[in-house]
Amino acid sequence: MTSTAVTAASIGSVCAQPSLGARSKPSGLSFSCSKTINVFSGLKASSSVVIEADTSFLGKEGVASLQASFVPKIRPKQVFANQLQPQASTFKVAVLGAAGGIGQPLGLLIKMSPLVSALHLYDIANVKGVAADLSHCNTPAKVLDFTGQSELANCLKGVDVVVIPAGVPRKPGMTRDDLFNINAGIVKTLVEAVADNCPDAFIHIISNPVNSTVPIAAEVLKQKGVYNPKKLFGVTTLDVVRANALLLKGRT
Ligand SMILES: NC(=O)c1ccc[n+]([C@@H]2O[C@H](COP(=O)([O-])OP(=O)(O)OC[C@H]3O[C@@H](n4cnc5c(N)ncnc54)[C@H](O)[C@@H]3O)[C@@H](O)[C@H]2O)c1
Repeated sequence: MTSTAVTAASIGSVCAQPSLGARSKPSGLSFSCSKTINVFSGLKASSSVVIEADTSFLGKEGVASLQASFVPKIRPKQVFANQLQPQASTFKVAVLGAAGGIGQPLGLLIKMSPLVSALHLYDIANVKGVAADLSHCNTPAKVLDFTGQSELANCLKGVDVVVIPAGVPRKPGMTRDDLFNINAGIVKTLVEAVADNCPDAFIHIISNPVNSTVPIAAEVLKQKGVYNPKKLFGVTTLDVVRANALLLKGRT
């Protein structure tokens, strides 16, 4: 997750001043390219970005598809108009565990997306301040906060995408499996609420161990009769980034 955030943030920062020749060189990534893509850069309405990713963790195909996803599917005149007045889409996104180490930067990244019209932040504690801070970013998504089990259903009603980083992270000496007993229960409860309130939503599980929490989520959804394997995901970006970093280290 962290590395994903770094990547996206660095793309945004390069966008901000392309004419100054800004270069993004976050650790483990190399941006040195010559292709220009249009992206929304959060505080600026939109701008041109130069991305090069010869050694990106995404790989060449991944980078190509990322670039393709940013290519406007509209005529040039419309692109210009949209750059002046970015239009938000209508996707509603909920982050469950939004006040944590993963939830906070993730909330910021989602808030920066022009595709999102509403961002619902849920946690068992400390979410109000996070929501207040994010709501001050001048992007279209409306930010709402929800605290505690009694507000979970309202948080999830009408939501299109649910991201779940709720739970406990590893402490020194722990393995991901040590997290199972706590996080399995948390994910189970949260996914039950998802099934009841937004059964058609895309669900992204971040809480570890992902290889156990995703099957738990699948079983909960099956029990509720709303399981769609095409809409349930385990977020493994961090593992991919680490694997690439280790491989690169071994090569040099
Ligand atoms: N899949 C990945 O690539 C990846 C990467 C990093 C971390 N993680 C995992 O993400 C999880 C969160 O990590 P973190 O660093 O943000 O931890 P954190 O302790 O900083 O944050 C966890 C948040 O979850 C909240 N929470 C706990 N129980 C909850 C519940 N029942 N409902 C809603 N919210 C609840 C806590 O209040 C806290 O704000 C961990 O399990 C960690 O292992 C996964």
